[in-house]
This record gives sequence, structure tokens and C-alpha cells, in this order.
Amino acid sequence: MRECQRDPPATGRGVSPAQADRRAAAKPGPVAADALGVERRANAAYAPCMVFYTRAGFERACAEEVRVRAHPVSGEIQADPVSGFVVFSPHRAEAAKGLASSLQFSDLVFARQMFFSSGWMGNLPPTDRVARLVDEAAMLHEAFSDVFVETADTNEARARLGLCRRLEVPLRDRLKDSGRLREGMRGPRLHVFFVSQDAAYMGLSWPSNASPWFMGIPRLRFPKGAPSRSSLKLVEAFAAFLSPDEQARRLRPGATAVDLGAAPGGWSFELARRGLAVIAVDNGRLDPKVLASGCVTHMRADGFRFRPRKPVDWMVCDMVDKPSRVALLVAEWMASGMCRACIFNLKLPMKKRFEAVDLCRELIAERLALAGTAFELTLKHLYHDREEVTGYLRPRSRR
Ligand SMILES: C[S@@+](CC[C@H](N)C(=O)[O-])C[C@H]1O[C@@H](n2cnc3c(N)ncnc32)[C@H](O)[C@@H]1O
Repeated sequence: MRECQRDPPATGRGVSPAQADRRAAAKPGPVAADALGVERRANAAYAPCMVFYTRAGFERACAEEVRVRAHPVSGEIQADPVSGFVVFSPHRAEAAKGLASSLQFSDLVFARQMFFSSGWMGNLPPTDRVARLVDEAAMLHEAFSDVFVETADTNEARARLGLCRRLEVPLRDRLKDSGRLREGMRGPRLHVFFVSQDAAYMGLSWPSNASPWFMGIPRLRFPKGAPSRSSLKLVEAFAAFLSPDEQARRLRPGATAVDLGAAPGGWSFELARRGLAVIAVDNGRLDPKVLASGCVTHMRADGFRFRPRKPVDWMVCDMVDKPSRVALLVAEWMASGMCRACIFNLKLPMKKRFEAVDLCRELIAERLALAGTAFELTLKHLYHDREEVTGYLRPRSRR
């Protein structure tokens, strides 16, 4: 294969409104008796919980996954269709904070973000929400390393983004003035997640066990000259699965890749842009721009049968096929040492999405156990994924 060199690409770092508001406002008000003031009790539900952001329409898959991963902790799940978030409230309130560390964010496929919350807050006074948020934050933790004022990723909720932006600056300033916001310190971040104009969940996430991005969404620019929007899926996968250092070390000139289901060439384009030599496998036509890079060789072949002459560094696969078939294919490539790592898409069924993904995880684990290959597998429903999830399979790192 040729050695290719191109300019290095930028790496990614990143119901109707009335109904939604009514639902949110109808959430619990009364609370356990404690030493708190009367007003606080009327305006908040001190029911510790975990809050998860998800793509609208995937609340059920996210809820099922949370229930399974939280086991043996049991609790109530709130997963309103098309709300873009899920709340898990353990039956034993004291179990909630433990979940913030026992649940591994990287194990969750359908959650874009997760944080521990002390409970729902309502009736935030429109004239001085910030004062109330500052008071609540003081009760939550001593200091924060960052502040995110967010809402769900739905059309309805996005109308509240202006409010989030308006509140963030004064909230930051007030927390800084009181010494509670210490940027750069190691410690939890503060989340305020608005579910209506006057109601929010406030809570904490720990950077080592959460998404680094605002609303769990990376900000990525559409790569200049890319032949399809699919490019962004791979760019996001690199940002989600590899540290900037790993990207620099492993996506560089001299490295090799096979792209199964490559046409029109968005993924091959991304690999070639980083200087990798790519074999693009597809019976379909590749965009001439991709071939013009000089780094991409087009093979018209069946991606399920194609095998490279020599092992490659990367196998990437975006073929539209049954998820179990793709899962077995990537496991086979890893088991037989044909590649060092895989990034692949699994297309999802309309129903039982969590079960379908879990089955693929099992199929991969079984095949690699048979081969005696120790591996790590991360599966994520990325922002640029629609009815699919993205997997990253690699050998288990020596710690
Ligand atoms: C979603 S598109 C891939 C888009 C591509 N990743 C990009 O960035 O432009 C899926 C591709 O898989 C190809 N495909 C489906 N089954 C295939 C097979 N058995 N062998 C090779 N290619 C296949 C289709 O021809 C189609 O071009």
C-alpha cells in the first residue's frame, strides 16, 4: 500500500412545548421531611436520581439499558416518549449516588450524558432563577470544575436553549465569586437540566465517567470536500473513542485501513485525509474526489467475503445489513488478526433496539473467547447516528 500524506484534519473535542412543560411541571412536589425550609419543600422533590440524555425516540432503549445496567438496584424509570431524557430514581434513595460511580458511562450505548441529581426543582422564580440555582448548588457540593446549563435535544426543548445561555453566564459568575466554581480543578461538574421554563434537575457528573460535551453532543464541523455527511459519523467516532493522542498516533501516514461498504466514500475520505492508505470495498461508485486523493484503492467486491492480503491497522464497516451479521464479521476479522481495530455501524431494528445491540455484543464476545482474543468493545449511539449505533473493537490494553 502507498504511504499517503495530507493536511491533518481538525479533531473533534464537543410533544409540543406546552405539553412538555405541563408534564414537567406536573412532576412531584412533596418531599421527605427534613431540616429544609417550607418553601424549598414545596418547590422541589428531593428524590435522588440519575438523569440520562438520549436521542429523542430512543428513551425506551435507554431506559431498558439503564434498568439492566443498574441491577441489582431497582427503581422507578421516567422515560416519556420523544422527551430526549430518562430519569432513574432508585427505590432506596441512598442508592442513587452509588450508581453515579457503579454505572460506567462508557458501557451505556443509548445515553449521551449521565449525571447524579438530588432531585427535581420546580417553580424557579422567573425573575431570579439564578439565586435559587446558586442556593441549590451550595447544598449539592462544595465546588465544581465546570457548569453546564442544558436541556434535552428535541425541537421543543431546544426552544429553551436561549434561556440556558442567558442563565449560564450569571450562574458562573455567582459561583466563581463564592469560590464554588474552580475551573481547572479535578472534581465534579455542575449540570442544570431544564425540563421546562421553570423546572430543572440539578446534579453532578464526574469527568472520568461522563461525556465531555455540552448536552453530550460534540461540535464538529462538516469536513471540507467530504463526499457525504457519513464522514461526520466517523469523525465523531474518532472523537468519542480515541483520545487526541491516540488519534495522532494511530491515524497517521503509514497506517493502513479497509473500508467495507465504502461508497460514496465519506469514511475513506476521512481516513485518506489523515494519510492512511485505504482499500475501499463496495460494488457502488466512489466519489471521484475520494479517488483523487491517491490514498484510496477501490475494490468492487462483497464486503462480507473480502479479505486483505496483509493484515491492516483498521477495518471500518458501514454496510447496511443485519446487525448480527456485521457483528460476526467484525469479530471474525479481529479473531483472525486481519486488523488491529475496528470501527463499525450496527443498523438497528425499529423495536427491541437494546436487545438487538446486546445480542451483537454477546456474539462478538463468544467468537473472540473462542479465539482466545482479549478485547475491549465500546458501543455508542453517537449524535450523528440515526437508526444505528457505532462500535469500537480493539485488543484489551495492558494496564
Ligand atoms: C451507508 S452506505 C456507506 C456510506 C459510506 N460509509 C460513506 O461514508 O460514504 C452503505 C454502503 O454499503 C454498501 N454495501 C452494502 N452491502 C454490501 C456488501 N455486501 N458488500 C459491499 N458493500 C456493501 C452499499 O453499496 C452502500 O454503498
